[in-house]
Amino acid sequence: MTEPTPTVDMDKLVSLCRRRGFIFPSSEIYGGLSGCWDYGPLGVELKRNVKEAWWQSIVQQRDDVVGLDTSILMHPDVWQASGHVSGFSDPLVECKQCHLRFREDLLEGDRCPTCGGELMEARLFNLMFKTSIGPVENEAAAVYLRPETAQGMFVNFQNVATTTRKQLPFGIAQIGKSFRNEITTGNFIFRSREFEQMEMEFFVKPGTDDEWFEYWVEERRNWYTDLGIRPENLRLRPHDADELAHYAKSCSDIEYLFPMGWSELEGIANRTDFDLKQHSKASGKSLEYHDNAAGEHYLPFTIEPAAGVDRAVLAFLLDAYTEEPDKDETRVLLRLHPKVAPVKVAILPLSKKENQTSFARDVHADVRKTITSQYDDTQSIGRRYRRQDEIGTPLCVTVDFDSLEDKRVTIRERDTMGQIRVPVDGLPATLAAKLAGEDIFVLPPGGEVWKTAGG
Ligand code: GAP
Repeated sequence: MTEPTPTVDMDKLVSLCRRRGFIFPSSEIYGGLSGCWDYGPLGVELKRNVKEAWWQSIVQQRDDVVGLDTSILMHPDVWQASGHVSGFSDPLVECKQCHLRFREDLLEGDRCPTCGGELMEARLFNLMFKTSIGPVENEAAAVYLRPETAQGMFVNFQNVATTTRKQLPFGIAQIGKSFRNEITTGNFIFRSREFEQMEMEFFVKPGTDDEWFEYWVEERRNWYTDLGIRPENLRLRPHDADELAHYAKSCSDIEYLFPMGWSELEGIANRTDFDLKQHSKASGKSLEYHDNAAGEHYLPFTIEPAAGVDRAVLAFLLDAYTEEPDKDETRVLLRLHPKVAPVKVAILPLSKKENQTSFARDVHADVRKTITSQYDDTQSIGRRYRRQDEIGTPLCVTVDFDSLEDKRVTIRERDTMGQIRVPVDGLPATLAAKLAGEDIFVLPPGGEVWKTAGG
């Protein structure tokens, strides 16, 4: 079998994101801030949808996982106990000539990749951002910006277990910002210094951990493909023993075929009882689970699926980016799954005549109550379709001259450009069914809306 090759050029995607308002460089008018990005009006919708889809699958649709939202600043002892103060570092080398710094493990060859100069000996560089709490800046007041959301869940294990009365196995999930002073950032939002994570700590009885590890690897891979990522662009990469994080017994990365090659999208780790044991020792508080059924007390093992929101956003965008010939031109579209698409429906009056626009505005007012939609009456209809294709809007609703008479509108699909004409009465329900992937047709032509059996 031949190795698949990345098909989308990162520069094209970066340019689309900039032009259409998905993602901007942070503080752009000041020249930007390296490793930081701002999500624009479309980007923020896309990102919210990705987080919502994760929360639905991990928390809302399960009985055995609950949510949490913990503070970014935590007691500094947390990071001593977790091993981040001593172990969360990358080997850094500096060029003797231009003084640029690089991650040694990412370097090819033994010279500076920028100027060819000689490199200094590698030294370890801790990736946590340090700041201080309160008005006095000294070591006693030093705190860190969290480099992962996970520790907030470990230190709350007992709080959650006792207040929810959950029995093992159960999980705690959270979505939030994390910060790492990465030596090398780049590849757009792939590696930044401020990013968001979606992490879940699933606590299990020791001895059942290998099984649960396999379960979560499959669950998480399916989440991406269910949301439209092509399976051939995903692969699993189990870690070798010598690359495992300090806390892990086993770890598998879900990798995506990014433009720069196969790279980590999400990691699933078996963290054993490392974190609970460390926090128990350092805090002096018992974090044991009381297994009443077995009459035992023990520290649970933890299986952790840890995903990056920004990396998921990047993968969804890359996977959706399509260029196809359309007459003499090229049609650019984002084939985003309707669940993640930033705008689900665009309402477009064919002409700017007052009676048509006011009809279309009424349609929009009705649809937007339940579906994220946009109203647009500028430029030609062809250009408006193009604009919606390029931002991934799955459906356009066109209001035309006849709509005022027959109270029908046309739904046009982004991917096939196929059109059906449907009654405006009940339109939000028709659109919702189409967005959910149901097969909708109209019988007889010009008649009522039908769904296929099972739809
Ligand atoms: N709690 C475990 C943990 O944080 P990780 O593999 O270091 O594990 C999990 O991070 C995920 O967070 C990664 O798979 C990636 O998607 C995302 N991530 C990590 N560092 C990142 C960075 N600098 N920029 C963007 N996303 C990052």
